[in-house]
Amino acid sequence: MKKFLKWFGIGFGGLVVLLVAVLAILYGMGQSRLNKKYDVPVAMVEIPTDEEPLAEGKRIFQYRGCEACHGEDLQGLVYLDNPAIGQVVTPNLTSGKGGKGDILTDEDLIRAIKHGIREDGTPLLFMPSTEFYYLSDADLGKVLAYIHSKPPVDNEPQPSKLSTTGFIVMNVAKTISFLPAELIPHDQPAPPAPEPGITPEYGEYLSLSCRVCHGPTYSGGAIPGFPAEWPAAPNLTAGAGSRLPDWGEEGFIEIMRTGEHHGRKINPNYMPWKSYRHMSDDELRAVYTYLMSLPPKDFGNR
Ligand code: HEC
Ligand code: HEC
Repeated sequence: MKKFLKWFGIGFGGLVVLLVAVLAILYGMGQSRLNKKYDVPVAMVEIPTDEEPLAEGKRIFQYRGCEACHGEDLQGLVYLDNPAIGQVVTPNLTSGKGGKGDILTDEDLIRAIKHGIREDGTPLLFMPSTEFYYLSDADLGKVLAYIHSKPPVDNEPQPSKLSTTGFIVMNVAKTISFLPAELIPHDQPAPPAPEPGITPEYGEYLSLSCRVCHGPTYSGGAIPGFPAEWPAAPNLTAGAGSRLPDWGEEGFIEIMRTGEHHGRKINPNYMPWKSYRHMSDDELRAVYTYLMSLPPKDFGNR
């Protein structure tokens, strides 16, 4: 019996050592992914100076979700605060105290937006550049004009910091992309953006962010990597279980603007309609046209 306990003890001790070694390796892998330097040259875009494109820049900043994550005054917000992962904070993008407005060049801004890379070459956490990589030069120029137009705000957000377990989780949780920069083909130019219009192509351009939750086929289902209490994302194709064909274009526009249609209410904490409501009628029509042009899928065929 004693012998057994001795061998058991050695075996168990061995397992603990092995586990600690595996965790240390995963931690080190996380560190090196986060400290990797990317050298990505970017092409400048034209930055308009008139009033109209500036107002458009504000709208794009809103409907692309920048405002929801960066704050109405671009002052920076806590994006995520979870001991298992860490604290992820968006920077103050103005030139006020604690802001990066005077530090970041236009190239730095473009590299951050389209490539998810910080001014020192390291990858940004959770900044959804996989979508913004496809932004047209015209839209990007308007967004930069809007960022430059904002008055200085004094706010000194803490830099983002992963917790010890965060470095481990980022290597294990495959459905969450901590570092969007890793998924972007930096050395290939993005395909040309479609011309604005009520077309499926322009609708697709406006709908890239929907895939995160409604799935690559837009058929909805449980959202991978999100907390279990989140409702499933509904089907946005014309397939079984979708409400969209019955609602029609006008009903779709109404729920995207107000979060409500025919008694169905959607929660803005889960479905970011408060960002999307800034799309114009024609833009929402383009999105609807695109969704209805997709192969109809049954609910949850992500
Ligand atoms: C889902 C939330 C989210 C959205 C949407 C988002 N960002 Fe970010 N962004 C972040 C986070 C988080 C960081 C900071 C990451 C870090 O500290 O590693 C960041 C960082 C940045 C930076 C800082 C780069 C640097 O060098 O410090 C810029 C510039 C930026 N975002 C611009 C934008 C613009 C413009 C848009 C819209 C086109 C946008 N972001 C949309 C979350 C978001
Ligand atoms: C962050 C996740 C997320 C993103 C991004 C997102 N949605 Fe949603 N969406 C949801 C969830 C979750 C619901 C269900 C909300 C509820 O039941 O309160 C929903 C509901 C909807 C509904 C109501 C459908 C119905 O049958 O009730 C529509 C329409 C919709 N989303 C369209 C879109 C479009 C279009 C986009 C992109 C432009 C988009 N969503 C982006 C998560 C998301």
